[in-house]
Amino acid sequence: MGRRWSAERRRDPYHRAAMRQGLRSRAAFKLLELIERHQLIRTGDRVLDLGASPGGWSVIALQATGPQGIVVAVDVRAFEETDGVRFVHGRVGDPRLLVRLGKEPFDVVLSDMSPSLSGAYSTDHARSVELVREGFALARRVLRPGGTFVAKVFQGDLIPSLREELSPAFGRLFATKPRASREASSEQYLIGVGFRGGLLGPGPPRSLPNTTPPGEAGRPDPPPRIDVASARRP
Ligand SMILES: C[S@@+](CC[C@H](N)C(=O)[O-])C[C@H]1O[C@@H](n2cnc3c(N)ncnc32)[C@H](O)[C@@H]1O
Repeated sequence: MGRRWSAERRRDPYHRAAMRQGLRSRAAFKLLELIERHQLIRTGDRVLDLGASPGGWSVIALQATGPQGIVVAVDVRAFEETDGVRFVHGRVGDPRLLVRLGKEPFDVVLSDMSPSLSGAYSTDHARSVELVREGFALARRVLRPGGTFVAKVFQGDLIPSLREELSPAFGRLFATKPRASREASSEQYLIGVGFRGGLLGPGPPRSLPNTTPPGEAGRPDPPPRIDVASARRP
């Protein structure tokens, strides 16, 4: 990253607010905004966070679910442990991942996955669309009927066909760009609500491994609360 990038980053109010509030990434503000605007996550929800590293979204998702909820984070990159978040080191698209997520369905599947950027717009757009497809292929196996799917995608000419593929699976599918997204970024988020049902196998739901409640409260202490008011106005 060049000197100009570093200077821009230092000036970026979201980056500065993230540093001030001890958030793992400025991306955390995007999820905060999406949750506030669209009530994506409710208390007690089970959330699957795809492309979760370094963990900004997972921490916010955990805040939103509260101690009764569960957050499972997946990434190919290592993830610093956080109380209450279960990390699964793996690649979305790898068929071996599914079994590691257990059998109990999720209420919400988030994907903030980004491809490694080539710098060629159409290539990066196509890769980003492919990541949404892979995230969706997994989501339709693990999402409960009525659940919510959120996925980042870079805008481009493949979006209409992507939306056509996803649309029938949801009561409503729409696109939004949070204010916290950099203006220069082509990213937007597709949100599918009211999942129409998936491919979950028969049999009773089973708890995820390693998420067994450690005590009466059912979960370790949640991380300290984030200053949401100042998060809105970094
Ligand atoms: C923009 S970062 C996510 C930031 C995160 N939401 C946060 O708030 O900290 C994108 C992540 O997607 C991950 N990623 C890309 N392709 C992936 C894949 N196929 N499976 C799992 N993770 C993937 C990358 O390793 C990277 O950590």
